[in-house]
Amino acid sequence: MKLKKIRVAIVGATGMVGRMFLKVLEEKKLPIDEYVLLASSRSAGKIIKFMGKDYEVKLLSETSFDSGFDYALFSAGGATSLKYAPIAASKGCIVIDNSSAFRMDKDVPLVVPEVNPEDIKQNKGIIANPNCSTIQAVVPLKPLHDKYQIKRIVYSTYQAVSGAGIKGYTDLENGIKDIPPQKFPYPIFSNCIPHIDDFMDNGYTKEEMKMVNETRKILHDDNIAITATTVRIPVFNSHSESINIEFENEFDLFELKQLLANSPGIIVQDDTKNNIYPMPLNSNGTDEVYVGRIRRDFSVTNGINIWVVADNIRKGAASNAVQILEKML
Ligand code: A2P
Repeated sequence: MKLKKIRVAIVGATGMVGRMFLKVLEEKKLPIDEYVLLASSRSAGKIIKFMGKDYEVKLLSETSFDSGFDYALFSAGGATSLKYAPIAASKGCIVIDNSSAFRMDKDVPLVVPEVNPEDIKQNKGIIANPNCSTIQAVVPLKPLHDKYQIKRIVYSTYQAVSGAGIKGYTDLENGIKDIPPQKFPYPIFSNCIPHIDDFMDNGYTKEEMKMVNETRKILHDDNIAITATTVRIPVFNSHSESINIEFENEFDLFELKQLLANSPGIIVQDDTKNNIYPMPLNSNGTDEVYVGRIRRDFSVTNGINIWVVADNIRKGAASNAVQILEKML
């Protein structure tokens, strides 16, 4: 008996994350029979090399999903997802969406495969990929929450320009040559900008509130107190985060480090005597989350500080989405 062919659409295939979807799919060699690459009229007709073949980029339209897809990976911005993901889902395609459009929708699971893979089953046609900063944070927070019960989290992020797409990346390249920015409100070279996504009435940015709300949703715990400050820095790729955590329960620091080292998706790099700690240059091109500078916060009863680094385009976006797809296959 011949099994049905598996067809996958890549929406936003020409973008920063879209191209990484293609790279990760090439690496993983999943049992997928056919791919279709989609983008806007700016890129339709372009040829992209993928899996050793030439693929012509097709124009995304309301009829793109009529031919029957099993899965679609979307990374073409929130407006594109809002319009086209429901169309794809209505035609029987399961969408894994990298935008923020559906993340807080109660009918849409928000998934990090190391943390809440069981939520995938709840999908009604759309699964959301969390924000890049949230993904790398919840990978170490999950085992810590299970064992010591997290009471409060203070996030401070140091985010790479690749998180702002090709235009953000170009702003840093151009800034080195003193060319004014196109994407960021100020030059990013030799600067850091405490402003990621739009400001809200409560004084926070949307990026900061994404970290607060998405962390609670993924850990299934609305009682955790969370605050965040997110900052863009002049690093090309890989986000870094200082995370201060307060627990309900007591802990032994050695055991806590062992717990992190033995949890899925984590590499502990914590040997300060030899200057070993996570850094963007070392996480680029990998799918693990690196954790170091693990130390007691002496200002509270049961607290720690950790430093967490990951490739935001891979684990923070493309690889996480492809890992969700892999679980479903
Ligand atoms: P295009 O190449 O046609 O502009 P990035 O975040 O790196 O800038 O990438 C954004 C991705 O989303 C690109 O692949 C871009 O395609 C795609 N995209 C943006 N707007 C649309 C749209 N309206 N329809 C389809 N694809 C879109």
